Amino acid sequence: MRRKLVAGNWKMNGSRGALAELDGIAAAAAGTPGVDVGIAVPFTLIAPAAERVPGLTIGAQDVHLAASGAHTGCISAAMVAEAGARFTLVGHSERRCDRGESDADVKAKAEAARRAGLSVILCVGEQLAERDAGRAEAVVAEQIAGSLPEGAAADWLSIAYEPVWAIGTGRTPTLADVAQMHGTIRRQLAASIGGGADAMRILYGGSVTADNAADLLGAADVDGALVGGASLTAAKFVPIVSAASVIGG
Ligand code: PGA
Repeated sequence: MRRKLVAGNWKMNGSRGALAELDGIAAAAAGTPGVDVGIAVPFTLIAPAAERVPGLTIGAQDVHLAASGAHTGCISAAMVAEAGARFTLVGHSERRCDRGESDADVKAKAEAARRAGLSVILCVGEQLAERDAGRAEAVVAEQIAGSLPEGAAADWLSIAYEPVWAIGTGRTPTLADVAQMHGTIRRQLAASIGGGADAMRILYGGSVTADNAADLLGAADVDGALVGGASLTAAKFVPIVSAASVIGG
C-alpha cells in the first residue's frame, strides 16, 4: 500500500509574511500521520520555513545539475539541503517550457539532488496540442524514458503527472484519463526498474483543489497530488491533505 503524498508548490509566490500559512499546514500534517506532506517554497524562504515549522517537510522547486561552479545565479542541491530542504521538484513544465530544460537536464538534476540527500518529485506532462493529437501517452513515455534517474527507487523518487494545460487553468482531465495515464506510467516504470515500480508514488498535478481532490486522489494509481495555487494558504491546502487521509485509509 503506497502512502499518499500531498506536496505544495508555491512557485514564485510568498514572502516571509506568508510563512504564517505554514503553521496551519504543519499542524494538519502532524495530525494526519497517514499522509506525507511537503511544501516547495522559493529558495529564499527555505531556511526561514524550515526554522519556523521544523516538523513540516520543506522542499525546493529546482536545483542545478552541477554540484558547484561558475553558474551565476544558480543554486545547487547541497545548498538547498543545507538551508533545510528535504526534497526538490525537478522537470516542472514551467522549467521545461520556459527555461528549455531537456530530459537529460532533468535526469541530471534528479541525480544531483539524490547525491545531496534530497528526495525528488520528477514532473512530466503533455501540452494541450499533444493531447489533442492523441500523443499524450507517447510524450509522457518519452519524458520518463529520458529523465528517469539512475538508481530510481521509491524511497527517494516520486513521479508527478501534470498535464501542462491543466496547470493553473481550473481544467482537469477526466478521471478515466488520469487513471489511464497513471497506469501507463506505472507499467513503464515496471519495465525500467522492475518490481520497485509497485512502491513508487505517482502524483497527479494540475488545478487540484479541495473540491476535486477526493475524486482525483481516488483514481486508480494516483498516490498523491502536486498542488500549486491551492497550496498558498492553509485554508485551501489542508482540505486536500484531509481528502488524501480519507482515501489513504
Ligand atoms: P496548479 O499548479 O495547482 O496551480 O494548477 C500545479 C503545479 O504546477 O504544480
